[in-house]
Amino acid sequence: MSILSSFSRHFCDLDQTLERSKLVSHKIGYDTTMNMQTEQLKTLRDAAFRASQNAYVPYSKFAVGAALLMRNGNVITGCNVENVSYGLANCAERTAVFRAIAEGYNGADIVAVVVYTPGQKAYAPCGACRQVLAEFLQPETLITSTSEQASQQWRLTDLLPDAFHFDVSAYRE
Ligand code: THU
Repeated sequence: MSILSSFSRHFCDLDQTLERSKLVSHKIGYDTTMNMQTEQLKTLRDAAFRASQNAYVPYSKFAVGAALLMRNGNVITGCNVENVSYGLANCAERTAVFRAIAEGYNGADIVAVVVYTPGQKAYAPCGACRQVLAEFLQPETLITSTSEQASQQWRLTDLLPDAFHFDVSAYRE
């Protein structure tokens, strides 16, 4: 399945009545034929790349950016933010998701995720990010990783089959 054609069904449920204030740097359009167009994917990839330019990566020097396409057409971005206590690094994907939540969105608003990683290879999201994405995304939501030369695409359920989910209410008195 090509990247562009496989995006298509994720645009079937765009809620055009949901209009938020412009929270991010730019807003992209989507077409009514529900196809992710080359231009749209490029826009998301560009947004992820621009976000990567803000990455705080003094330790790894590996600047990653992530762009979430929201149902209302807005794009929420994030970058990786490292720490001298290395294990506290926050990946670009999680930064973007947390930012979206902080700005008032919920998981159902996220219709596509595009990541930019530097270099030739397009890297897959780490395990921690997969679990965080599983908290908010639909299992079928597409995640695309792009680099200078390559791209890869997965459904969330392919990246993290049998994700941990927990009905806390079932375990409370
Ligand atoms: N990183 C991300 O931001 N996203 C990923 O999917 C994998 C790794 C970051 C974490 C760390 O700051 C740097 O890349 C090197 O691992």
